[in-house]
Amino acid sequence: MRYKKYIQNLPLYRIAKPTDTPTREPVRLAANENPLGPSPMAVAAILEAAAGVHRYPDAGAAALRQALAERAGLGIEHVTCSNGSDELIMLICLGMLSEGDEVVMAEGTFVSYLMRTLEMGARPVRVPLIAYAHDLSAMADAITERTRVIFVCNPNNPTGTTSGAAEVRAFIERVPEDVLIVMDEAYIEFVEREDYPDLLADLRGGRPNLLLLRTFAKIHGLAGLRLGYAYGPEELVGYLERVRPTFNVNLLAQAAGLAAMADEDHVRRSRAHAAASRAFYMAELAALGLKPIAGETNFVAVPVGDDAAVAASLRERGFSVTALTGWGLPGLIRISFGTEEQNSALIAALNSTEASLRH
Ligand SMILES: Cc1ncc(COP(=O)(O)O)c(C=O)c1O
Repeated sequence: MRYKKYIQNLPLYRIAKPTDTPTREPVRLAANENPLGPSPMAVAAILEAAAGVHRYPDAGAAALRQALAERAGLGIEHVTCSNGSDELIMLICLGMLSEGDEVVMAEGTFVSYLMRTLEMGARPVRVPLIAYAHDLSAMADAITERTRVIFVCNPNNPTGTTSGAAEVRAFIERVPEDVLIVMDEAYIEFVEREDYPDLLADLRGGRPNLLLLRTFAKIHGLAGLRLGYAYGPEELVGYLERVRPTFNVNLLAQAAGLAAMADEDHVRRSRAHAAASRAFYMAELAALGLKPIAGETNFVAVPVGDDAAVAASLRERGFSVTALTGWGLPGLIRISFGTEEQNSALIAALNSTEASLRH
């Protein structure tokens, strides 16, 4: 077969070998899922829609897009929906990149940007974080004639850090209008800082090169359903609509998304739970002598020394967390917030892990 070398060389993502199958399911604190579960209103909508799955879904996801558009004060032509926002990252790369093009991203950010860039034979230009946050000024400096796309993850997964409005504004002003800025706002609903940038206003103002990625996987607790969306200028959204698979958002996801948006109580409880969990981890990790990174998401990253060893030791104690060496952040682990009991148990396990690693 004449495979593309740059695809063949990619690592295989999360394919567990049979021997890796755990005898006991670990407590999953590794994927930034919602420990409160899905929105109950979304579950009810899924059950109601289930009897209709012999039909294809609405290929245009019109009702859901309309609701998302109205909430943002934009027209429906400014919204596209996807099979998880991960699919949008792939569609952006498919639509925008050719071999040899450059994509600017942080080193120590969401790994899909890197994977999907490499998959297109394009060149990732990875800019180190500064104090665990995006260095937007250095990212603007990294733009060349070949740059087509810039990915900014705000808040950043896996460090949880955010970039404020003034900094983001200065950055956007420096990016040429033919370079696409992708602002991945997967965790926007958890943000507390008041000067977080309102980029929907930029879209309402007609900015041509900005796409905002959002997801139902985090605050709405619908990770397993696969539902993401983006806000952008009409031309760009129309372009992405042309490359997406016709029925990329399934019928259950469309129904659940609409219901989840209306479930303000679930959103409020999820945000409050994340805030309480964050305060708990910041205090407890500091009490263990560690220096957790101050973030604004539903997870916390913390330097622990040997991240692989600590993650393996936690795994033996029944917890899965994420070791971040593979993300370009050696020595750190990322802990997704669980229920109150799971969070307390994780801290106890980390305490004994730390002790065992010191001996
Ligand atoms: C920053 C960021 N973007 C996108 C995604 C993908 O989300 P989805 O489940 O909607 O594909 C994630 C998932 O963890 C994420 O952390």
